[in-house]
Amino acid sequence: MGIIDRLKDREMTIRPMRPEDVENVREVGQIAWSDLAMQDIGRRFRYPKRSEKLIHSYMTTEPEGCLVAELDGKIVGSAFCHVWGGVGWIGPLEVHPNHQNAGVGRALLSACERYLEGRGCQVIGLETMAHMPKHVHFYLSSGYTPTTVVLILEKVVRGSEVPTHFVEEVPASKLPSVLGTIADLSRRLSPSLDLTVEARKAVEGRLGSLFVAKREGAVIGFAVLHTYQKDEEARFSSIKALVTDPELDDKDVFDALLERCEQASLSAGKDHVLLRLSAGSPQLYLHLLGRGYSLRAVNVRMVKKGVYEERGTHHMTSWAG
Ligand SMILES: CC(C)(COP(=O)(O)OP(=O)(O)OC[C@H]1O[C@@H](n2cnc3c(N)ncnc32)[C@H](O)[C@@H]1OP(=O)(O)O)[C@@H](O)C(=O)NCCC(=O)NCCS
Repeated sequence: MGIIDRLKDREMTIRPMRPEDVENVREVGQIAWSDLAMQDIGRRFRYPKRSEKLIHSYMTTEPEGCLVAELDGKIVGSAFCHVWGGVGWIGPLEVHPNHQNAGVGRALLSACERYLEGRGCQVIGLETMAHMPKHVHFYLSSGYTPTTVVLILEKVVRGSEVPTHFVEEVPASKLPSVLGTIADLSRRLSPSLDLTVEARKAVEGRLGSLFVAKREGAVIGFAVLHTYQKDEEARFSSIKALVTDPELDDKDVFDALLERCEQASLSAGKDHVLLRLSAGSPQLYLHLLGRGYSLRAVNVRMVKKGVYEERGTHHMTSWAG
């Protein structure tokens, strides 16, 4: 990717991120999100910088899909692409407030879409804040269609209630033995989906933990928990994906995996668990309220290419970067 546009007589370049860009990218992200918080809630809030570990895991997984926008040689924005089999999603995407509303965001978004097309993704989508007119306009006018309301829930975890004896943590040495089943369960959840990359990032990239639920020796569900958060975010963990066999759609399996994530979060010194689920399953939302979760924010999932649907009720996947 080379110079793609001229912006008010200034040269803009979109190019793959390099390791030496990471600090600038983190800084632009912090400024962009802090500025957004000011617009959103009307008061100053200094967002933490994005975890270096997380950025490195994105760059290791999709080195050509982590992009920066440069204006006159200075980084003013960035975007990250993720490939889950045939499902490609984009996030985070951020532009320095001094350079917003000049087309940098759209240039980054288009570059991400081209990259995901090139990676053979049949589905291209993202998640954004449903209550921000700019965001809804930006993505709708870029050809995205809202598909799902996404609920962001949080729980302060205290202790354990549900038996989890059939859930095991997968160490790095056992990872190869479960990847095939994770691919299979992902495909059954949604035909073009493959979450093995997230399992790898959690275990090999040390972003957190991978758990599998087994019945009679067969894996019938899995969960990916992120515990990489530190500094201002140190008390938080987040569930990246929790999938149960859609044929069984078993609430007990879901609960056992969730409970195991909560226990692991506490063991890692994090008493706040964040998760994201589709509001298309009100039963699951009510169930999670009963388990001590409360609603913190609402996003919308939007898709530009392909059709993306998930079968069953007892699962969660997050397209948030
Ligand atoms: C969202 C973001 C990446 C967009 O980047 P950008 O460089 O400003 O985007 P562009 O200039 O290409 O496009 C912005 C569009 O929003 C429009 N816009 C700006 N303010 C708006 C408002 N209050 N309501 C509606 N539309 C608005 C602009 O007019 C432009 O649309 P147009 O091309 O049809 O005129 C940027 O605002 C950002 O970094 N925000 C903070 C981090 C964030 O929220 N990231 C996205 C998470 S999904």
